[in-house]
Amino acid sequence: MVDRLPEDDPRLERILLSGDQIRERVQELAADIAREFQGESMLHMVGVLKGACVFMSDLGREIRRAGGPRIEYDFIRASTYGGAIKADGEKERHVQIEGLPQNVRGRHILLVEDILDQGFTLSAVRRALLETYGAAAVRLCVLLDKELDNPSDEVVAIRKGLVPDFCGFRIPDRWVAGYGLDVNEEFRDLPYVAIVREEYFQD
Ligand code: IMP
Ligand code: MG
Repeated sequence: MVDRLPEDDPRLERILLSGDQIRERVQELAADIAREFQGESMLHMVGVLKGACVFMSDLGREIRRAGGPRIEYDFIRASTYGGAIKADGEKERHVQIEGLPQNVRGRHILLVEDILDQGFTLSAVRRALLETYGAAAVRLCVLLDKELDNPSDEVVAIRKGLVPDFCGFRIPDRWVAGYGLDVNEEFRDLPYVAIVREEYFQD
């Protein structure tokens, strides 16, 4: 199917990943995950809201289609950026986590996220799952992994410890939207991932 950007919306520069490309890659990831968790009676997936909701719904169904284990879904809410787009040179971020599931103690978790950018969100969520909630192990699955142009030393260190076990696509250091990802709560419903012109969103 040919994807098209919304007409007359200058805020979106171009389509980076088409719906077809995403679907195909999600199927491949699902096959890898089904193989990896073969023989386990249950796969416990924890998705990070809101961004991961589209990816996780598609991924879960494809894992079943690929013959994987039954899946238990949980979602947590992590707010890192508020509504705003990342400003150049910005470093430290506060990550607020809500709604952590109580039944993760001793279990192997597959943590599912839309995008790995500087890594603050996933490292905070993973730490909370392991240290506060006693998960036995946490594996990471991200749809997108941003290749950062100018990461700070702190970010380099965080990212070193956060290599995803399953990754859909490596993408350039641009703001993207669609397939669950937003800018100021817009565009999550686009069936593809598009590059955003950031000049339209600076405060
Ligand atoms: P990190 O903590 O810097 O890795 O940021 C990760 C979070 O920021 C993700 O969960 C997203 O919610 C958001 N984010 C980072 N980059 C983008 C983007 O390009 N588009 C939309 N959201 C993004
Ligand atoms: Mg997110």
